[in-house]
Amino acid sequence: MFKIKNILITGGAGYIGSHIVEKLVEKKNVIILDNLITGYKKLINKKAKFIYGDIRDRKKISKIIKNHKIETIIHLAAFLNVKESENNKKKYYKNNIQGTLNLVHACKNSTVKNIIFSSSCSVYGNVKGAVNEKKKLNPQNYYAFTKLKAEEIIKRFSNKYKYQYGILRYFNVAGASSSGKIGEIETSHGHLIKNIAIQASKKKPIISIYGNDYNTKDGTCIRDYIHVLDLVDIHIKTLKYVNTKSKSLILNCGYGKGYSVLDIIKIFKKTTKNLIINYKTRRIGDVDMVYADVTKIKSILKWKPKYNNIKKIIKSSIKWESTL
Ligand SMILES: NC(=O)c1ccc[n+]([C@@H]2O[C@H](COP(=O)([O-])OP(=O)(O)OC[C@H]3O[C@@H](n4cnc5c(N)ncnc54)[C@H](O)[C@@H]3O)[C@@H](O)[C@H]2O)c1
Repeated sequence: MFKIKNILITGGAGYIGSHIVEKLVEKKNVIILDNLITGYKKLINKKAKFIYGDIRDRKKISKIIKNHKIETIIHLAAFLNVKESENNKKKYYKNNIQGTLNLVHACKNSTVKNIIFSSSCSVYGNVKGAVNEKKKLNPQNYYAFTKLKAEEIIKRFSNKYKYQYGILRYFNVAGASSSGKIGEIETSHGHLIKNIAIQASKKKPIISIYGNDYNTKDGTCIRDYIHVLDLVDIHIKTLKYVNTKSKSLILNCGYGKGYSVLDIIKIFKKTTKNLIINYKTRRIGDVDMVYADVTKIKSILKWKPKYNNIKKIIKSSIKWESTL
């Protein structure tokens, strides 16, 4: 794959992290650091070394980096519930901002050469049309603000601590591994496709729509959904790029196509009888519309998506849910 052996993955027992681990353990030594708050034992890959711990524990991180001669950190550990972030800013500040600061400081005078960070499209706020990486950032909720601050921290210490970074701004992630062993378990994040998958097996499925008065074609929020396996591929390609070229970069990770909540529900409805749609008021922090301009990722990484079919993404999530 590329000449890196030892990789630390924070949040590797979570949804996206476990998919990255599943790919990397084929050829690399993978160490997972996770406090299992929204991660699950079931998602921990047996071929990886699992360390139960917290990114807020700097001594522990330094020890892990030293003992395992870590060259790359893929940093996914974070809290990600928007509503909770608004109601409990301190909790999110400590975990997502201070936790990232800890991790970065632990890289001082160490073997770490690369940091790949899970950022979010929420750093852009509300945008009209496809958004590119140069757009001025304008987070609209506290979770998004913590992601922006974490990006800034990673950038700020890059020269001083001599690492390259890859900041990956994920759009909405869905789907599951074809191995059937891993997928999204946590239900607290309020993800639409996860909710659909949960309802798929119910006799009377109910889907809530939070707000139908947004400034979009049908009044519901528009998002760009990316299959988790395409996102895994982006991590591998980004790591290869930053490591071999000794260059840092920031990339949008989406497909460049926006679907409204109603678009997604209509697809689900085709295969689901008796679906009830429950209209509710807007959720705090939700923006009208955000979808990616993918020109940069396609030209720099020569990335070609393999799973960019929304019906298949929904199907993949439903299939995984049926195994739980
Ligand atoms: N899922 C999405 O659609 C999406 C979109 C944009 C960005 N992201 C980002 O991707 C990352 C992973 O998200 P996910 O969907 O896999 O969520 P997840 O909750 O499944 O994964 C997060 C993992 O981090 C762990 N964790 C949290 N705080 C920790 C701490 N202090 N120390 C150690 N471990 C800790 C959790 O136990 C969990 O295993 C997050 O940083 C999130 O902000 C996700």
